[in-house]
Amino acid sequence: MQADFWHQRWQAGEIGFHKHEYNAHMTRFIDLLGIEQGDHILVPLCGKSLDMIWLREKNFRVTGIEISQLAVDGFFAENNIEHDISEHEWGLMYQSNGINILCADFFDIHSADLPHIDAVYDRASLIALPQDMRPDYVAHLTTLMPDTARSLLITLDYPQQEMDGPPFSVSGAEVRRLFGQQFIIEPILTDDCLANEPRFQEKGLSRLDERVFLLTRNIP
Ligand SMILES: C[S@@+](CC[C@H](N)C(=O)[O-])C[C@H]1O[C@@H](n2cnc3c(N)ncnc32)[C@H](O)[C@@H]1O
Repeated sequence: MQADFWHQRWQAGEIGFHKHEYNAHMTRFIDLLGIEQGDHILVPLCGKSLDMIWLREKNFRVTGIEISQLAVDGFFAENNIEHDISEHEWGLMYQSNGINILCADFFDIHSADLPHIDAVYDRASLIALPQDMRPDYVAHLTTLMPDTARSLLITLDYPQQEMDGPPFSVSGAEVRRLFGQQFIIEPILTDDCLANEPRFQEKGLSRLDERVFLLTRNIP
């Protein structure tokens, strides 16, 4: 998925992925990350997710990465968060009290651009990318994660032939293929959520599962 695709989606307001409530799986399972107040959570491809507000309210520090400036401006304006903006070779850094967002292409960000990361929260990021981009995403994300950092990963799994993505279907088998070499993968929950998702029912899906995984680095 090229940057232009996402810029157009934000420009057109086609952001059905953006939720107006906190993700219930995140609030339920965040403790599995084994993090403490003040620890730093990376939210790749963060959009203007309100989940970042919840994480901050729980006294975690948050760093998001998002390519759309419309999304980042929207996040700070809609939540009335005072912030500073600075320019960097990779893009713009929005800084506020406890939530920073790097407005940049995820693949241009390196660990030197980030604070020490204690955990990752990935909802609707991996599934935003077509299959051929996912190995690069996982490889790059792994370079941003210290060995001790865990990830809470939320994917959608549905019969891919029934709908074009994004969101793309990412099954448990694919999560194992993508992360299995470097991470211990614990499937936490499978939530049959089609009944709550009219927009996917309208697209003709016969099954839609939200899947939650805990990823822990597999250090030999
Ligand atoms: C499906 S949305 C999910 C947003 C957010 N995680 C949420 O839960 O609402 C995917 C987001 O990734 C952003 N994005 C796509 N490719 C990107 C890239 N290469 N670097 C940074 N952000 C990207 C898009 O602009 C979009 O906001």
